[in-house]
Amino acid sequence: MKTRKTILITGGAGFIGSHVVRRFVKNYPGCLIVNADKLTYAGNLENLSDIESVDNYKFEKTDIVNKKAVADLFTKYDIEAIIHLAAESHVDRSITSPDEFVFTNIIGTVNLLNAALESWKNRPEGKLFYHISTDEVYGSLGNEGFFTEATAYDPRSPYSASKASSDHMVRAYSHTYGIPAVISNCSNNYGPNQFPEKLIPLAINNIKNNRQVPVYGKGENIRDWLFVEDHSAAIDLIFHRGTPGETYNIGGNNEWKNIDLIRLLCKIMDRKLNRPSGSSEKLIKFVKDRPGHDKRYAIDSSKLQKELGWYPVHSFESGLEKTVDWYLSNTKWLENVISGEYEKYYDSMYSGR
Ligand code: NAD
Ligand code: TYD
Repeated sequence: MKTRKTILITGGAGFIGSHVVRRFVKNYPGCLIVNADKLTYAGNLENLSDIESVDNYKFEKTDIVNKKAVADLFTKYDIEAIIHLAAESHVDRSITSPDEFVFTNIIGTVNLLNAALESWKNRPEGKLFYHISTDEVYGSLGNEGFFTEATAYDPRSPYSASKASSDHMVRAYSHTYGIPAVISNCSNNYGPNQFPEKLIPLAINNIKNNRQVPVYGKGENIRDWLFVEDHSAAIDLIFHRGTPGETYNIGGNNEWKNIDLIRLLCKIMDRKLNRPSGSSEKLIKFVKDRPGHDKRYAIDSSKLQKELGWYPVHSFESGLEKTVDWYLSNTKWLENVISGEYEKYYDSMYSGR
């Protein structure tokens, strides 16, 4: 296993990034973990308050769209590897304001690639640019089949198109300039610290507050859900044992129709909140569908399982229970992230829908 002493993690104050940062800070005390994050609406240092003063952790407020700020990180630290998670990540926001997705997801990634290339040009051995991507780059499936690493890209939302572009740039830098790079494409994550505009935390928060739960269209769309700590474990494994130049798909083999998932969540919430059975389901409201809504995502992660021995360890039931418990006991976190800006966003998305 290669030990890289200084690891730059971008987007470490976000949902998945904060789990990855914590895992690396705790598991690799001999490595310095530098978390570079712009702290957009989705970035929250409270996610990392338990490790903020640990010796092998440093936070750098950085906008990856700012070329100089990115280059400065490489001057300040002897960065040997990057795990790149910083991104605009919400499909609905990408439909209303795509520009930000182009800036952060494409230009931000290219800025990081250029800075890494410049810094590593004389000593590329042992370095690694690990790009975290999504299954959404593969487009949408019908009722059958799975996305494999060989599936052709067919992104359909501004979010997935920007992530697909960034994947292409990473591969292009790897082929053209020899930058050691690896990419993983993961299915939908859920778990503690997810910003409550994504389906699962939004539903938990709304049910708790007796607010309607908006289900797009007929709720027939299918997603493959993975607990965030299982994704972090896969990232750790791929970072240390993955082969540069390769791509790995990560998925939960856990497909749910949105409406079935929401009904399950309603049952769990009734039990946790001691409400009469069936009361949360009454909050479900079918609303206008998302434009261009992808029908189904499903990942074949057999390559990662066979080559690196990764399997998810959390069942969906246990992961959902943990997630619900976390949101119900972290009310302060929720209050803090549901700022005025979020309320405005929420109203503009759902009023009249
Ligand atoms: P998130 O929105 O919760 O967090 C994104 C983080 O990036 C935030 O901390 C934000 O402040 C930071 N950021 C945004 N723009 C930035 C900029 N210009 N400069 C520096 N930092 C910036 O996202 P997430 O759900 O944790 O996703 C993390 C990564 O994983 C993304 O690349 C996403 O595409 C990918 N991914 C997410 C999922 C999922 O289900 N959430 C699934 C597969 C892949
Ligand atoms: P989301 O969490 O936004 O993830 P993604 O679009 O990246 O898959 O949405 C998950 C699914 O839930 C998707 O099919 C859209 C749907 N959805 C709703 O039905 N209602 C909602 O309020 C939200 C946010 C999503």
